[in-house]
Formats: sequence, structure tokens, C-alpha cells
Amino acid sequence: MNQVNISDLGNYAGEEVTVKGWVYKTRSIGKIWFVILRDGTGLVQCVVVKEETDDETFNLEPILTQESSVIITGTVREEARSVGGFELGVKSIQIIQVSEEYPISPKEHGTDFLMNHRHLWLRSKLQHAILRVRHQVIKASRDFFDQNGFILVDSPIFTANAAEGTTSLFEVGYFDRSAYLTQSGQLYQEAGAMAFGKVYCFGPTFRAEKSKTRRHLTEFWMIEPEIAFCDLEQDMDWAEKYVSYIVQWCLEHCKTDLETLDRDVSTLEKVVTPFPRITYDDAVEILKKNGVDFEYGGDFGGTDETVISEQFDRPVMIHRWPAEIKAFYMKRDAENDNLAMGVDMLAPEGHGEIVGGGQREDDHDTLVRRIKEHGLPMEPFQWYLDLRKYGSVPHAGFGLGIERTVAWITGIRHIRETIPFPRTLTRLEP
Ligand code: 4AD
Ligand code: MG
Repeated sequence: MNQVNISDLGNYAGEEVTVKGWVYKTRSIGKIWFVILRDGTGLVQCVVVKEETDDETFNLEPILTQESSVIITGTVREEARSVGGFELGVKSIQIIQVSEEYPISPKEHGTDFLMNHRHLWLRSKLQHAILRVRHQVIKASRDFFDQNGFILVDSPIFTANAAEGTTSLFEVGYFDRSAYLTQSGQLYQEAGAMAFGKVYCFGPTFRAEKSKTRRHLTEFWMIEPEIAFCDLEQDMDWAEKYVSYIVQWCLEHCKTDLETLDRDVSTLEKVVTPFPRITYDDAVEILKKNGVDFEYGGDFGGTDETVISEQFDRPVMIHRWPAEIKAFYMKRDAENDNLAMGVDMLAPEGHGEIVGGGQREDDHDTLVRRIKEHGLPMEPFQWYLDLRKYGSVPHAGFGLGIERTVAWITGIRHIRETIPFPRTLTRLEP
């Protein structure tokens, strides 16, 4: 007996196969009834006809509630009108478990209800499609860096350092002292870059974000490359090459899922290099021209980002930021000490910042001064300062937030649906 995935049914036309899965829906028209079965790889319509099956199987229709688990054997038939282009002529159905009153019915539910049932909501068509795209974004990311000679160097989750400011740190007990959950793997990647040249890490990062926005999670996944002998321009070269690679990969490998999500892919097709590069000053000019009341020197808010990104048909990279609003480790512009050599990439269509990075301060004494200026304790940075004592070189890197990238590619407005189990200010369960 051929046990097959629904996504592979097309290879078995005319053959008898067995599929294992869950009941999505049933529908009866008297002498014929249908089960839409899902197995995680797709959906298939299974047709039960009185003459083609035994009585026991034919009488199962009222018992097969939504999400009951079953094993169905039948013959694969081409059927253009059916999902996937094939259907199954049922010979027998074996019930594994009858599901009791599945809480998510086809009727509309509120997001809070659905989020409370996230462990089940994952089975729904749209959520399923979003998370399949997430899978491909992560695969494309790993492939990209692996193919370009980067070495994976995992950064720790428990740290003693604040990398991205002290206001969003999660402090946890660590035996007889305390530790922080990492905000970014960057500092460790800088050590990695000095050891291997080109490195990256991929893991969960944590920010005690008190803001309740559609773009913030308290736990999100970041991929962070770091490159030795690299300046800001070359860093932007890597960022645009990488982001266009992810998008093109998804266009090719997530066609069905993007269709399910009704994503207009014409805007994604435009995401090819080179991406526009503008300075912070240019960005402020754009805001002024569009009548936005913005005070020079501040960070861009969600709507500012949308106004700026709407000027371009692909992601835009904004570089050379007021140093006061950027992290302590950023190198200053040789031509203007008030500017940090940082870069943010904004996704098109109002999806906001997906990449943050830049060139790092590589001078030991300057870095010591910055740590003090930022009011950070010197002791936990001793190892980091070592990197500027033993063969310090210009280096740069960036971090891409997986969830914001998935939100953009899938066209989903709220980031909470782009991660299997979101963590936010108000949500720790399920
Ligand atoms: O801009 P950020 O804070 O940069 C860093 O952490 C650098 N240390 C990275 C580096 O240079 N290696 O964060 C990088 C990206 C953002 O552009 C955004 O995509 C995502 O991480 N991000 C968040 N995503 C979801 N929820 C949050 N609270 C996020 N904060 C940042
Ligand atoms: Mg940022």
C-alpha cells in the first residue's frame, strides 16, 4: 500500500493510496458525500459513493466531526475542479479519534479568541500558509549565508551585556547573580568575525518592549551576519543582496502559499538589487516635503517609516544617523562626528524596519569612551574590548528580524501571526 502525502497525490493518478490526516470538512448530497482531508502538506477532496465502498464506511459521515483523525484509502483521480487538481475515490476510512467540538469553526472569530487557541489555530489555512513562508524565509537565509562562505557561530542567550540599550532588558536569576536574556547576538558575532572572517548567528532575541504595536514582539528571531574588513557601503551591499535573495526564493518556492494569502506578488517581483540608499538627512527632507511634522534628531516612528518607504518601489536603506539615538558600538562618520555609521532598511508597503546594522567602532579608546558616555558598566565589556586590542580591523554587520520580514512577504499587517507562538507585553500563553 502506498502511503502518500497529499501534496504528492499528482504522482499517483489511477493508483490506490493511503493518506493519513484530519477532517477539515464534510458535505453530503445523499448518495455521495465528501470529506476534505488535510494532512499538513495540503488538502484533498475525498469522495464517498455508496456503490464504491462498504456500508460501514458509507455510514461514517455524521461521525466525522471537524479535526477527527483518520486514515483513508482510495484511488487517485484527476479532477480539475478539486483543490490541487486531484481527488480521492474512497474505498475505506479508518477512524483514529473522533474530535469533540473543535472550538475553531468556519465562522468568524475575534483575534483574541484565535490567539488563545493558537495551538489549534495553526491548523487553519491562512496561518498554515504564513508559517510555511516563515520556514522558507529561514531556509533561504541559512542557504544564503552558507553559500557565501559565512560560518554559523551561535551566540549565547544568557548574557551579562546590554547590547541595545538598558531599557528593554529582561533580567533573569542566574544562580547567585543575575543575567539578561540576549537582545542581539551581535557582540559575540564580532568575536566570531575576528576568528572566522565572515560569520552569522540565528536565534531568538528578547526585548522587554512595553509598546503595544503591530511590529513588536518581546521574543523574536534575528539572523545576524558580521564581516571583518568591511565598511558601511559593503555592509549595505550584503544586506541588499541577502534581502533580494530571500524575496526571490519565496516567489519561486511559496507560490501556492502566497496565493492562499492573496498576496499581490507584483510588488515583491520588484525587489532586486540595487536598493536605494539615502542618508538620515535625506529621509528627514522626504518627511518635510510630505508635510510630516518631524523634529530633526529623533528616531522615525511607524508612520514616518511608512511615508519614507512609500517613495520607493523596493526596500530603502537609510544610513548616517544622529549618533545620540544609536547604540554605543557604532562607528562615527569620519566627516561628521555627530553621525553614526548605522543603517536601517525599511520594507516597502508600510511594513517598517526589517534590518538594523552598520559599521562598528574599532578603536579601543574611543569604544571605552562610548561605553562610559552611554552609562554602561565597563566590567562586562572587558572581553569585547579585547577584540580592539588584538588585531582590530574595520568590521560591520546587521540583524534582520525574521517576523517583520515574514509579515512583509506575506502581506500580513500584524507581526503576531508570523511566529508560531507569539510573546508580547500581554501574552505568555499558549
Ligand atoms: O535594529 P536592531 O535593534 O539591531 C540590532 O539588534 C543590531 N545589534 C543587529 C546587528 O547589527 N547585528 O534590530 C534588528 C532587527 C530590526 O530591524 C527588526 O527587524 C527586528 O530586529 N526587531 C524586532 N522584531 C520584532 N519585535 C521587536 N521588538 C524587534 N526589535 C527589533
Ligand atoms: Mg533598529
